[in-house]
Amino acid sequence: MQSVMEEKQHIGQLFDRIAPTYDGLNHGLSLNIDRRWRRMTVAKMMPVRHVLDVAIGTADLTIEMLRRGKAEYVTGIDLSDQMMEIGERKVERLKLQEVNFIHGNAQQMPFEDASFDAVTCAFGCRNFSNLDEGLREMYRVLKPGGQVTILEFSYPTRRYIRVLYDFYFTHVLPTIGRLVSRDKTAYTYLNKSVKSFCWGEAFAQRLHDAGFVDEHFEPVTFGIATIYVASKR
Ligand SMILES: C[S@@+](CC[C@H](N)C(=O)[O-])C[C@H]1O[C@@H](n2cnc3c(N)ncnc32)[C@H](O)[C@@H]1O
Repeated sequence: MQSVMEEKQHIGQLFDRIAPTYDGLNHGLSLNIDRRWRRMTVAKMMPVRHVLDVAIGTADLTIEMLRRGKAEYVTGIDLSDQMMEIGERKVERLKLQEVNFIHGNAQQMPFEDASFDAVTCAFGCRNFSNLDEGLREMYRVLKPGGQVTILEFSYPTRRYIRVLYDFYFTHVLPTIGRLVSRDKTAYTYLNKSVKSFCWGEAFAQRLHDAGFVDEHFEPVTFGIATIYVASKR
């Protein structure tokens, strides 16, 4: 069995494989709560000109921020071409022309220092093989005064919610994920990666260590996910 770390080395391929079923499974398995989390994340953003959406995937967060007028244009970076292809098709269908998709690694981005007015990342950080490298890169490419907004899975604090959560993530989600995506490992990886990841204060501290200031966070839906916001001085 592969370790979470080994799987992270091949993350682009993993998402390439599940790309065709990613959106449907996301919305179905979360009972559409993921859409609400993205809306809440975007609500925390200030309207700016140019946003970098790290791990843009199929562009759901980007679409939401363009619709809400939080960005004039968006550059998205991702390791999975298949995820971005689906994102590009969605953006075209919605006639949102202001998106530029770039293949690349969040931990070593091909952008100049201080290039973007804001940086976002939804459900991407957990997949980085080195979280601190990814956060430092976000800090580097953000303009001084800019804000980073991150949405990521976390772990509920209430005991009875944890029991349900553990059951859902260990049994229900990997089984449905495997059947629908026909990928044996991807949704087991999701479960493992969520459990082995840091959240709350610990994640806020990592933002601070990367150079960000005014870091704060809001757990949503019993802490199943958390929205983090921080700034660059
Ligand atoms: C769970 S999806 C999230 C996609 C999208 N942000 C959303 O909200 O649906 C995670 C995405 O992160 C991308 N990813 C993971 N590690 C990455 C890295 N080091 N650099 C760039 N993209 C990465 C994957 O290819 C995948 O598209």
